[in-house]
Amino acid sequence: MKLRSVRFKVSVLYTSVLGAILLVYSLMLYFNLGYSLSRAIDSDLRKKVLEIEETTNLYSQAFDTTEEKDVVSVRRALHINEMADREAFQWPSVRKIDQSWRYRIQALGIKHDYVVVYSSSGEVLETSQNVDEELLPILKALFHTTLKGKTTIRDFDSKEYRLRIITHPLYRGANIRYIFQIATPTEAHQLLLKTKMRLILISIPVFLLFTSFLGSFFVLRVFDPVMEITRAARQISYRDMGKRVELKHADDEIKSLVDAFNDMIWRLEKSFRHIDDFSSNVAHELKTPLAIIRGELEVSLRKERTAGEYQKSIGIAIEEVQRVLKTINDLLLLAKLDYRTEVFAFEPVELNEFMQEIYEQSKLIAAGKKIEIGIKAAEQPLTINANKLHLRRLFFNLIDNAIKFTPREGKVEIALERRHKEARVSVRDTGVGIPAEDLPRIFERFFHVDRTNEAPSTNGLGLSIVQSIAKIHNGVVNVESEPGKGTVFTVSLPLL
Ligand SMILES: Nc1ncnc2c1ncn2[C@@H]1O[C@H](COP(=O)(O)OP(=O)(O)OP(=O)(O)O)[C@@H](O)[C@H]1O
Ligand SMILES: [Mg+2]
Repeated sequence: MKLRSVRFKVSVLYTSVLGAILLVYSLMLYFNLGYSLSRAIDSDLRKKVLEIEETTNLYSQAFDTTEEKDVVSVRRALHINEMADREAFQWPSVRKIDQSWRYRIQALGIKHDYVVVYSSSGEVLETSQNVDEELLPILKALFHTTLKGKTTIRDFDSKEYRLRIITHPLYRGANIRYIFQIATPTEAHQLLLKTKMRLILISIPVFLLFTSFLGSFFVLRVFDPVMEITRAARQISYRDMGKRVELKHADDEIKSLVDAFNDMIWRLEKSFRHIDDFSSNVAHELKTPLAIIRGELEVSLRKERTAGEYQKSIGIAIEEVQRVLKTINDLLLLAKLDYRTEVFAFEPVELNEFMQEIYEQSKLIAAGKKIEIGIKAAEQPLTINANKLHLRRLFFNLIDNAIKFTPREGKVEIALERRHKEARVSVRDTGVGIPAEDLPRIFERFFHVDRTNEAPSTNGLGLSIVQSIAKIHNGVVNVESEPGKGTVFTVSLPLL
């Protein structure tokens, strides 16, 4: 996996986010556990001192509360199994307390705790049996630092001992009679917390490692189609545009990406084919007249010719040169119309007037073929925003076609009308018409069929230019034709 790959970045991102969440969550649980444990220990300790206090009082009452017997009560409460005072044990009331205390002491688990009883002046009166010489000074020292009138709870940590210690005064009337100190070992709890911490420290990295592997596997699966697209894209070349990306089971964003990609390839393929056709057409259109010129020149050079023959050859050559020039000019114009529309200046043009002018000029051309040309103006003025030069070219191209493809003594009619927010100019002829199968192609560049016996210098760019000019005026060109009867071209242009 590369360091800069999306897969790596995604893996790192979610692993770190997940890691952070897990860490925070585990630490929260850990500290909460620690807190709850120490709360539980504290409440246990409180319960224990209260029980001992209560039992001591019970014994005191049973012994009828003399000062010495008081000490015996404490002693009994702490040394229940010792049966310290055999004589007193004979008393039924004491026996009863002993009995129940034995159970309670078991339930409370005091036997595992360290208990010390101090007098109100801080003298050690009694200790439980497990308090040895080593521990006693520690407990005593801690006792002396506590507030003697109140119950306090402290921690003690050393190598040998980990303790939580409660110090609790026992009152008799308003005076403190004894002070109890119970220390409970907390090793078990500490051990529990330590184990938990170790578990956290080990499990988080293991878990993260596992999920990052799993995650990167899933990311790989998600990116599988992308890799497929990449592979397909590499295979697609200008020579081999037929390739498409195919996805077996994708119905998500990737699918729309693939669709868009395939669509793009399809459009590119179309454009390439178009460019191919276009350049071979250009080559062909230029090659033919040049070949004719070369032929004429070669024939003239082969032997001495008469002045008339030379004149004829030169005349043909000039005609062909004009043809080449026309094609080049048309192509330049088309390029300009398609890609440099911003250079054209537009101005308001009144179409009735404008077409009248064009009509006057066309009449002269039509007269040569004895074609009758007419015009029908609209009733209302039709003003559009137009580039006059190109608009003139548009209509001359249409009228030129109409005259060219109409036999002698035919008719051509220009008509203007207003339709909603559009001006419509139609050029109708009574010519040879266009076969239905050619209709969709007549606006293509270089598409031309000479349907007349004359040999006009055509290159099939006229209608492409018409359409491009209409487009820069936000207009459209429609055509209807009936072979043998005639054709009508209608140009719709938005009114100002
Ligand atoms: N009015 C029409 N009547 C019959 N056929 C037409 C008419 N106008 C166009 N066509 C057909 O459409 C083809 C394309 O027209 P277009 O004007 O693009 O080219 P062209 O007239 O042949 O050449 P150019 O205009 O470049 O001199 C023509 O060759 C012709 O076959
Ligand atoms: Mg034409």
